Amino acid sequence: MALKTMSAEEAARLIKNNDNVGFSGFTAAGCPKVVPAALAKYAEEEHAKGNPFKISVFTGASTGDYIDGALSRAKAVSRRTPYQSNKDMRAAINNEEVAYFDMHLSQLAQEIRYGFFGKINVAVIEACEVTEAGEIVPTCGVGISPTACRLADIVIVELNSCHPKAMRGMHDIVEFQDPPHRKAIEIFKPDDRIGADCIKVDPKKIVVVETDTPNDGGGFAPVDEVTAKIGDNVANFFVKEMAEGRMPKTFLPIQSGVGNVANAVLAAMGDNKDIPDFNVYTEVIQDAVIGLMKTGRVKFASGCSLTVSNPVLNEIYNNLDFFKEKVVLRPSEFSNNPGIVRRLGLISINTALEADIFGNINSTHVLGTKMMNGIGGSGDFTRSAYVSIFVTPSVAKGGAISAFVPFVSHVDHSEHSVKVIISEYGIADLRGKSPRQRAECIIDNCVHPDYRPLLREYLASCPVGHTPINLNNTFAFHKALMETGDMKNAKIEK
Ligand code: COA
Repeated sequence: MALKTMSAEEAARLIKNNDNVGFSGFTAAGCPKVVPAALAKYAEEEHAKGNPFKISVFTGASTGDYIDGALSRAKAVSRRTPYQSNKDMRAAINNEEVAYFDMHLSQLAQEIRYGFFGKINVAVIEACEVTEAGEIVPTCGVGISPTACRLADIVIVELNSCHPKAMRGMHDIVEFQDPPHRKAIEIFKPDDRIGADCIKVDPKKIVVVETDTPNDGGGFAPVDEVTAKIGDNVANFFVKEMAEGRMPKTFLPIQSGVGNVANAVLAAMGDNKDIPDFNVYTEVIQDAVIGLMKTGRVKFASGCSLTVSNPVLNEIYNNLDFFKEKVVLRPSEFSNNPGIVRRLGLISINTALEADIFGNINSTHVLGTKMMNGIGGSGDFTRSAYVSIFVTPSVAKGGAISAFVPFVSHVDHSEHSVKVIISEYGIADLRGKSPRQRAECIIDNCVHPDYRPLLREYLASCPVGHTPINLNNTFAFHKALMETGDMKNAKIEK
């Protein structure tokens, strides 16, 4: 049976006001491009006619401008989950125009299946190949695509010629059965495969839109003095752990978070000759992993997306035989599965926006109210890791913000899950320490010298108790930032 084909504009009109739409991809990698852009235009036309038009947007993670940017500017989004990092979508969330709910990425596909958010009406999926038998081969991000495709009434496939058909074989496509029928996941090593090389759906549901629009694959900030120092501290921590017998000398698979700091940490690990060649079991495979794969330092990487800059993506596509042996892309409920994280003994390394002196971590909210991106997969990994590490530069915004505060303004990861914090100044190993001991350890090792006296003054102001908290001063740093633009002006009341 020949598949239906149509233009992006025609396909966009298959999506109705109030629909729940599942998009492919994970970060900007693997997201559809021309259909969401046409959908944004269609929404604007409907609004101009006085008709309501908004949809709920479900994705693997963030998307980039084609989906989150275009649709939020068109005021076409009523609900959004599970993660975003686009400035226009962020503004719409923080204006309360879009009802955003922040979720652990590993849980989204199953909660869609459980029916927690209503039915998925349409799936829009970027593919490098689609066959008349209904086989859809994703591109560089998988996310929730298998679930969205199976549940949707209509599957719009954006067949993108920028991505070679020869990618087939890089993916491991599988979906969980839901309780009480769920089975064990037979992934015992990062390179184990348990699924198929494509998503399979009833071809009658498929509509194909052809395009050659490239990824909006932005690069990473170059490693600077601070991020390089953080990276070195992380690498030195591992060397000591292995030397003192707390970590196997063969090392353990690494999960590394998103963003510039995470990219710099991996680069530093690659440079440290005392760390053996290692495997990666993570969510986003960034540029640094591919660089280390070429030198043999990274042996294998399992992830949910190839979130790499366009030059690195071209390099992968030009050497697919090499990279297909070394990379597998899985749906987010497998790449981020907490059971696998605990079984493989992953070392998780994620970035904090702020940490408090007890080890609670805020990854998401500026001053407790403004959403930055979302928790992403950091919780999936942190809670179940062999050892969970958070990294952060000690200050932000030229020193006006301390990453270490008396108490975080929002909690994403609690003190119970966070084992080690590392800044450019050093390593705070929180394992086996009481709250007061953790506070002293963080102040002595991680805090910027400009803020150490203030935090010591805060600690001294706290009443005796298991967790030394002075409720009069808990948010003194945040208050000073709001009122004077600089946390250094915090006043500690006795
Ligand atoms: N208050 C306000 N702004 C802060 C801040 C704070 N306490 N700490 C950092 N920032 C700002 C920085 O100044 C920077 O702003 P700019 O872009 O205007 O310069 C921005 O936040 C990003 O900081 P940066 O140091 O470049 O970090 P990053 O690119 O590594 O991203 C997170 C850091 C926390 C935003 C990012 O890692 C994230 O979204 N994490 C949550 C999801 C996650 O961990 N996923 C991984 C699971 S695999």
